[in-house]
Amino acid sequence: MNLYQPYLVRIEDMIDETFDTRTVKLAFEDSSAAEKFSFKAGQFGEYSVFGHGECTFCIASPPTRKGYIEASFKAVGKVTSAMRRLNVGDTMGFRGPYGNCFPLDEMKGKNIVFIAGGIGLAPVRCVIWNTLDLRDQFKNVTIIYGARSVADLVYKRELEEWSKRSDVRLHQCVDPGGETADWKGEVCFVPTLVEKVAPSPEDAYAIVCGPPIMITYTLPQLDKLGFAPDRVYTTLENRMKCGVGKCGRCNVGPVYVCKDGPVFTAAQLKSLPPEY
Ligand code: FES
Repeated sequence: MNLYQPYLVRIEDMIDETFDTRTVKLAFEDSSAAEKFSFKAGQFGEYSVFGHGECTFCIASPPTRKGYIEASFKAVGKVTSAMRRLNVGDTMGFRGPYGNCFPLDEMKGKNIVFIAGGIGLAPVRCVIWNTLDLRDQFKNVTIIYGARSVADLVYKRELEEWSKRSDVRLHQCVDPGGETADWKGEVCFVPTLVEKVAPSPEDAYAIVCGPPIMITYTLPQLDKLGFAPDRVYTTLENRMKCGVGKCGRCNVGPVYVCKDGPVFTAAQLKSLPPEY
């Protein structure tokens, strides 16, 4: 099969998370492809709208749920705008899964701290559900999530569900000025919430994903709390195009984000050129 040949996937469902962010649920048209397809939490794919091109997103649904994948996206360019115009029942393309993954096997039996900002919750949500679908294999699950405003929080129905679970500790915040009269979470930035919650590094791994500025200020907080840099994971997106190590567009210094990543430890990030 041609390396760039996509699977055909049908939009089975779509949910508008915010005014500009949409989640699509994609089912494989070929039932044997649906059966065979598997991936690991943290991997990504190339999504195509025929006649418009491809765009790169993580797979936002967990590998523990078979037969479909989900992707959450903002309409920010030509392809994502075309994707935004598609409807339930329409067919598009998907190729993948690509890249490395979060080391879920290594994390088994440990405490997991998830930290996300804005739409950065998409790749983290994949790991959260993966963990919750195998709940008895992990210790404490803590989720720290924030967005610019209440309206910008994604996966609101799932945040609600997690907030009610006794086996999940969920802490939420919105930036100052982004709160509403009935907002019950904190009003601060994500790194400040990490400092307030102060998750223990004892027997723990942290997974962090969000805008670069959030990552920049969150990693030193985790450092201060005592998290070892090789137990803190994040995922990068970097101008990916081919997804398979051929086009050379995604390199950061000597590293190809599509092949060597997109998942990196904080220790690895420190060795990359300063803009990362
Ligand atoms: S996206 Fe083409 S080399 Fe990484």
